[in-house]
Amino acid sequence: MGYHIVRYLQKEKEKRKLPFKYLFKRTLILLSPFKYSLILLLVLSIVGICLNLVIPYIIKLFVDAIVIGDINSLVNLAIIFIVVATVGLAVNYTRSYLVPLIGQKLMLNLRNSLYRHVLTIKLDYFSRIPTGKIVARIMNDVDSIGEILASGAIDVLSDFIFIAGAMFIMFSLSVELALIVTITVLIVVIIAYIWGERAREVYRKVRESVAEVTSKIEQDVSGALLLHTFIHRRADSVMEFQRLSKKTLTSSISAAKIVGSMGPLIRLIEALCYILILWYGSHLVGVEKITIGTLSAFYGYVGMLFRPLIMLTIFYGSFQSALASLERIFDLLDTEVEARRGDRRIKVRGSIVFEDVTFGYDPDNPVLKSLSFKINSGEVVAIVGPTGSGKTTIVNLILRLYEPQKGRILIDGIDLREIELRCLREQIGLIPQEPVLFSGTVMDNLRIAIPHMSIGEIKERLRKLGLEEFLLKLPQGYDTRVVEGGKNLSVGQRQIISIARALLTDPSILILDEALSSIDPISEFMIQEVLKRSLQNRTCIVIAHRLSTLRLADRILVVVDGRVVEEGPHEELIKKRGVYSRLYETHFALARAQ
Ligand SMILES: Nc1ncnc2c1ncn2[C@@H]1O[C@H](COP(=O)(O)OP(=O)(O)O)[C@@H](O)[C@H]1O
Ligand SMILES: [Mg+2]
Repeated sequence: MGYHIVRYLQKEKEKRKLPFKYLFKRTLILLSPFKYSLILLLVLSIVGICLNLVIPYIIKLFVDAIVIGDINSLVNLAIIFIVVATVGLAVNYTRSYLVPLIGQKLMLNLRNSLYRHVLTIKLDYFSRIPTGKIVARIMNDVDSIGEILASGAIDVLSDFIFIAGAMFIMFSLSVELALIVTITVLIVVIIAYIWGERAREVYRKVRESVAEVTSKIEQDVSGALLLHTFIHRRADSVMEFQRLSKKTLTSSISAAKIVGSMGPLIRLIEALCYILILWYGSHLVGVEKITIGTLSAFYGYVGMLFRPLIMLTIFYGSFQSALASLERIFDLLDTEVEARRGDRRIKVRGSIVFEDVTFGYDPDNPVLKSLSFKINSGEVVAIVGPTGSGKTTIVNLILRLYEPQKGRILIDGIDLREIELRCLREQIGLIPQEPVLFSGTVMDNLRIAIPHMSIGEIKERLRKLGLEEFLLKLPQGYDTRVVEGGKNLSVGQRQIISIARALLTDPSILILDEALSSIDPISEFMIQEVLKRSLQNRTCIVIAHRLSTLRLADRILVVVDGRVVEEGPHEELIKKRGVYSRLYETHFALARAQ
């Protein structure tokens, strides 16, 4: 019992928003694939309870038979006892096999559907909810309900039936002794409840300090590089870590003290209850109100009563926490998935129009404000502007990663929302500001873009594009392993892989978001030659700081604070002596001076 009680105590009682009835209904749906196993489990539990309830009664009959020396009954009772005990064993074995089986399958199902769902959720969810919380929902919350839904609910039900059954039998055997037991039971429930609350409180402290230690480790491992450069910070970090670890130790010890005190206390009350029953019971036997057998039966029932009682009291709190977990899981499952509206499949030619587009990641705080511009198909347009002015946001909207709150975006004259998402994204090649690579080889990363193409064809195409030589310069060429998002490669190397991946798909619209910012000048020059060839026959949006990249553009849009403030070819904007020429003079002239 110790293990389960500790598990239950470690869970927090939490406040819920959704009504119990709603949670119950959805839980039933969740459990529906397991209905036959659950019914079997319930039946087994009830059979198990009945067998348990019968045993002290058989002992009563046994003792009574011994007292009057009835050998025939003794033999029969012995046979019954053996049968009951054997069936009980079989039932308990099947039960203890079924519970984890159902629990684990349930958890697997839930995790799969949560994972699948998370990959399709609308992106603004991820800017609102920290990644850690989403991971916790898929891992911890699922864990916490898997166990309780599969075993907890049925355990509670069986414990309840057991206690009610035992009390019923006891009252029918002897009202006076049953009353003594009832009073003890009430005392135990009150003590277990108070104790449980205290224990939960100390476990909360343990959890908090463990969380502190974990986040400290996470932060410092991911920031290891920086810690190495700030030597003093490192020493401080070690001290801080020791302090946090010590706090965890202290709170764990006080938790152990409290949890450890419960067992002896309950055993003391149990012993008192035995003494009372033996003392008063033997008096009742003396006045021939009950038989010695009845007294033995009471002895047996009391021994079996305490465990389920304590479990029930303690379980209440963890049941609350399981409901809260359920609520969080349903909440995640209910988050809006990416807009699926739109089913037009078109061959994109590449004109892009923003009409009065207003958008903010937080709707109350717009990043783009009534933004309008037009890009013709086949045109190369550069977007320039200060950091944070909304350039990357424009790109996010073209890919329909987010939807504008006002206004509309047209591609080839068709509202973006009418075009099938997949069709749209397949025809746009994005080279993002921060290249994203997955674990695997460089070739694996290239193939993501065009899974149907053979490795030979991919190499051939990259050779024609003039990109092969850059990729072959990587330590093992195409077979170079990429570790955890590419942290074993330089940012420039990552950008080259990212460029290759985007160009491989031969997109109708190509978007470069400061894609060349970390590449050395010589490679940059060579890649620009590659790009110049690739820009033909497609619409291209280049977000860039460097003059050399801007020169590729037919036209420049200057975006400041979510609005287009100037637009036109380079020379024209320079002559205009506005924002662009100022940007050009300071920023680009500075770059040239370097
Ligand atoms: N995912 C996001 N969630 C919330 N705010 C964001 C997000 N991405 C960008 N922003 C905010 O939007 C504004 C514009 O960002 P961005 O378009 O990335 O600028 P730029 O690319 O021009 O440097 C910034 O103020 C930034 O803080
Ligand atoms: Mg940006």
